[in-house]
Amino acid sequence: MNGKRTRIYEGKAKILYEGPEPGTVIVHFKDDATAFDGTKKDVIDGKGVLNQRISDYMFQRLNEMGMPTHYIRSLNMREQLVRSVEIIPLEIVVRNVAAGSLAKRLGLEEGSALPRSIIECYYKNDKLHDPMVNEEHITAFGWATPMEMDDIMHMSIRINDFLSGLFLGIGIRLVDFKLEFGRFVENDMMRVVLADEISPDNCRLWDMRNNNAKLDKDVFRRDLGSLVDAYHEVARRLGIIQEGETPVRSRPKLVKSDT
Ligand code: TMP
Ligand code: ASP
Repeated sequence: MNGKRTRIYEGKAKILYEGPEPGTVIVHFKDDATAFDGTKKDVIDGKGVLNQRISDYMFQRLNEMGMPTHYIRSLNMREQLVRSVEIIPLEIVVRNVAAGSLAKRLGLEEGSALPRSIIECYYKNDKLHDPMVNEEHITAFGWATPMEMDDIMHMSIRINDFLSGLFLGIGIRLVDFKLEFGRFVENDMMRVVLADEISPDNCRLWDMRNNNAKLDKDVFRRDLGSLVDAYHEVARRLGIIQEGETPVRSRPKLVKSDT
């Protein structure tokens, strides 16, 4: 399968293949889970499918509200067709509640309210462990222009408002999340679009109906139980997966028969 495709790039959670038309790319969501700069690793059956389906849903909703994104359409349970973009080497983290590295760095209690939503920028560079940077670094080193940063900040705020409301409606608190943006040329103009994925791999999602139980990759980072069950619950509440549908696993499972 996929034997004739040209692989462009393989990351920790996704593989990129050349798309069927120029200017397109196929994104393949893997079952690999990594954390802490790839030092903690596992393969979790069904994670890629769940992330693809959740991210597909998010990008469709964002496209509908007029947000420029790289998303074209999903191809199958694990793959999406997207516009080929030059990834801006930044990880934009939007935070609504203190958690993770912010809680640790500033000595805040996880779960404490922030005075307002906070946006942070990290330079996407695994060797340097994605250091936090500010707009001075970003524009001085030319990772993004001041105009691109304006677009990125405005889009991140809009996406946060939209996603926070969407998750609130299904009893989930959007604590924080990470976005990536890309640029491509359209009608001689450079445009910034949302790229990468929006899935429980790069969001913190707390279950407001169940004592703030974690429904995101912290389940894996902190060994809190079944990651697939948590992601499946997110997909179920979003209505992507039908009630009673069992989590998709890639390996065949023994099925007991009643007869
Ligand atoms: P942090 O609290 O570890 O800085 O993470 C903030 C958010 O960004 C959280 O929702 C997880 C996400 N994230 C990624 O998607 N990729 C990463 O490499 C890191 C460190 C965080
Ligand atoms: N995705 C990053 C890694 O694999 C970090 C994380 O999400 O915790 O290292």
